[in-house]
Amino acid sequence: MGKKKAKVRYSASQEVLLARIKSDVTEHLSGKPRRLAHSLSVARCAERLAVTYGADPFLARAAGLLHDWEKACSVSEQISHAKELGIDMGVELELVHSLLHGRVAARILPERYPELPPAVWHAIAVHTSADSDMNPLDEVLFVADGIEPLRPSSPGIERVRKLVGKASLDDLFWDSFTGGIAYVIEGGRYLYPRTIEVYNALAARRNRKKG
Ligand SMILES: [Fe+2]
Ligand SMILES: [Fe+2]
Repeated sequence: MGKKKAKVRYSASQEVLLARIKSDVTEHLSGKPRRLAHSLSVARCAERLAVTYGADPFLARAAGLLHDWEKACSVSEQISHAKELGIDMGVELELVHSLLHGRVAARILPERYPELPPAVWHAIAVHTSADSDMNPLDEVLFVADGIEPLRPSSPGIERVRKLVGKASLDDLFWDSFTGGIAYVIEGGRYLYPRTIEVYNALAARRNRKKG
């Protein structure tokens, strides 16, 4: 509490690009003020996590700003966009509609921001479902999305928030990811079959590491 966080320094061209992205997102999500506030908050949180855990804060901030871009659209529009783009989730897209917006944004935004590298689009693509080979930037965005300060508190979210800076990034991600699965099951929601595969791949790797 009350600890001053040093401002991250960017190059002039990075500052210009971040300002352009922020202004685009602000306009694009103007009809959804809470989604906009969440996006700005994820950007700040992802930047801070990136600094803490040695990922690239510029890419983390850009990914945070853009991750929910497609949420400006209704669910049925998101499904149509995913169909138009030929996005294949292995199940009917209607069943996994909440996972599509990351995949869609990752496909449509590179044309708008050719300055940003594929790493940003990968992090955005997997911010909803996660994957078995998450790199630090992917994990930073995933965790930031789950714990940004505007997200209402829950015991699971509080636990992850308290672990920032103490636990490893892999552990923070693991807690966020498994907390998300618990949320899906507790609410009786459809669990994406690939999530079970990702869970098992990660669990096996973690258990091997523990020995
Ligand atoms: Fe999202
Ligand atoms: Fe989000």
